[in-house]
Amino acid sequence: MPIPFIDLQAQRKRLGEPLEAAILEVVRSGAYVMGPQIGQLEAALGAFGQAPHVLSCGSGTEALMLPLMAWGIGPGDAVFCPSFTFAATAEVVPLVGASPVFVDILPDTYNMDADHLDAAIAAVKAEGKLTPKAVIAVDLFGQPADYPAISAVCQKHGLKLIADSAQGFGCTLGGHHPLHWADVATTSFFPAKPLGCYGDGGAVLSKDARLHDLLVSLRVHGQAVKSDLEGRTFDHDPKYLNMRIGMNARMDTIQAAVLLQKLAIFADEIEARNRVADRYAQGLGDVVRTPAVIDGGISVWAQYTIEIDDRDGLAAHLKAAEIPTAVYYPIPIHKQGVYSVYPVGPGSLPATMAAAERVISLPMHPYLEADVQDQIIAAIRAFAGRNA
Ligand SMILES: Cc1ncc(COP(=O)(O)O)c(C=O)c1O
Repeated sequence: MPIPFIDLQAQRKRLGEPLEAAILEVVRSGAYVMGPQIGQLEAALGAFGQAPHVLSCGSGTEALMLPLMAWGIGPGDAVFCPSFTFAATAEVVPLVGASPVFVDILPDTYNMDADHLDAAIAAVKAEGKLTPKAVIAVDLFGQPADYPAISAVCQKHGLKLIADSAQGFGCTLGGHHPLHWADVATTSFFPAKPLGCYGDGGAVLSKDARLHDLLVSLRVHGQAVKSDLEGRTFDHDPKYLNMRIGMNARMDTIQAAVLLQKLAIFADEIEARNRVADRYAQGLGDVVRTPAVIDGGISVWAQYTIEIDDRDGLAAHLKAAEIPTAVYYPIPIHKQGVYSVYPVGPGSLPATMAAAERVISLPMHPYLEADVQDQIIAAIRAFAGRNA
């Protein structure tokens, strides 16, 4: 049997009947949009992620866009983000009319280089064409970015900080979730993510009640929320009083029901992912470059990504052995046609370019059995020509 890259069916079997019953309950209830499971999920995510406020939404992309809208970021503004990431991190910036400015990564963790961020902000300020407004740091492949350093740069320049934790929800640094340092943390519940649903979904975690209120409004077409109605009367359903330009960014109730089930086993799954990562590191550390995790960090291992000179040769060798691999990401965002018009921090992005040439991700999920993993390790060692 071919080895799956991510085994969602093993997880579904573990969750069993209660998962299917939870879905059926929504189907039978008729509360398909904003049913009670939405509020339950938001509370549960807040408890898990040390977040005072949580807004569920329709995707990780919407989760990134909503705070930019809430802060009024738009034309003439600069938002700094990495180029070695999934397109959505940068995409939301032009979607609100602002300009992304691409920042390099650290070669060992693939996360944002705080020194290069500082230099990029200074260069944009010196040029004077764009106004720096926010930074989007990414928890790439599941591990926390260097938030102490990045948030210090944001504070120095007076910028908002978004933690794009689409791949990293559940990761911690010194026991803290990214929101400890960021103004908001966002995530994606795309099925392949460490905490995924059965379709699209996302969430915005925040610390500020007023911001959360604005996000609640923006999620449903800018409808009036409690704070908008203070001191004023409206004789109709406030749903039809639109205070600002918003959109439809709601999560489906069925996805919230699925996530409530999955969240109950998520901490256990993170431990299992770390066991799998440790076994890869032990089996492969002497033949390829295995991933480094920031000091004090716990990764949720959305991907297990190694580096090797002949990346394409290894992919072909593993494919012949029915072992799937993937390359995240072969083309940095700033090198893609539509994004090539946007500025890049000083000195270009050498670590980003080098990583894109060499990275390759291996099967990774909490249910990867030791004997299957040993097959993968043996196949890689055979390719590397140093079979132990
Ligand atoms: C780093 C990153 N940011 C944002 C997103 C967007 O999430 P979604 O696909 O749920 O819109 C993804 C995932 O696909 C991602 O990996």
